[in-house]
Amino acid sequence: MTAKIIDGKATAERIRGEVKEAIEKRKTAGKSIPGLATVLVGENPASKVYVRNKQKACAEVGINSFGHDLPGDASQEEVEALVRKLNADPAVNGILVQLPMPKHLDEERVLASIDLGKDVDGFHPINIGRLAQKGREPVFVPCTPAGCMLLLEEAGAQIAGANAVVLGRSNIVGMPVALLLVKANATVTIVHSHSRNIPEIVREADILVAAIGQPEYVKKDWVKPGAYVIDVGINQKEDPTAKRGYRLVGDVAFAEVSEVAAAITPVPGGVGPMTIAMLLKNTLHAAELTD
Ligand code: GUN
Repeated sequence: MTAKIIDGKATAERIRGEVKEAIEKRKTAGKSIPGLATVLVGENPASKVYVRNKQKACAEVGINSFGHDLPGDASQEEVEALVRKLNADPAVNGILVQLPMPKHLDEERVLASIDLGKDVDGFHPINIGRLAQKGREPVFVPCTPAGCMLLLEEAGAQIAGANAVVLGRSNIVGMPVALLLVKANATVTIVHSHSRNIPEIVREADILVAAIGQPEYVKKDWVKPGAYVIDVGINQKEDPTAKRGYRLVGDVAFAEVSEVAAAITPVPGGVGPMTIAMLLKNTLHAAELTD
């Protein structure tokens, strides 16, 4: 079997187009222009790039973005005071606090201070709690996990009743994607650093989501023929033939796993572009809540 390559770039572009069109319609109808506030604390170079890309994507679809950069030694009170100000600002529909924050800050308290209706990252403890509970719905679903689910659906995966294995239990991807798979009626196993017999567990997966940050960790003989494989990893792998001296690889050995999977996301061009697309969609949704 040769896997179908799941084109996240194309799906993300389609969503961005839909968001752009919806915003144009809002303008014509005299409704407000959605606004996203980004909060970046400190100088983490990767975080700076992510935030800049989010702001650029906002501009492309007609969302106003408001960048707030705080120094790396900002106090808990300063960060929370900024969030309170953004909560009260009617031009701001979504608030995104880029993670990770510097270690001295209490991340949970910052996230809990975001207005539930502006929590476009879906990381507020109440939104996560609702995601974990039966019969309850979060106002917003975290962006990367929502992107994984959409790619699975578009690839034609049958989620209800499937055995799903999630590699990784991070707050940003592993745990929320596992909760979404449970909500979609999959039977879910979460594999983490203390798990035993990992290849055997992975072999049972009809759906595999890899989010552990280990380059090409999942091998061909771990993957059940016909499985749907979503690779969230973005890792640098040394490659002297590449201009920068490295190339990007996922958590899955793409070439060999492609020989057995039914469908697989590439890296880059799979899950990566979906995160920002879902953020734009969530920000539009946040504005619609205020109509
Ligand atoms: N850091 C890595 N991914 C994310 C994300 O989706 N949202 C935020 N706020 N921080 C992140």
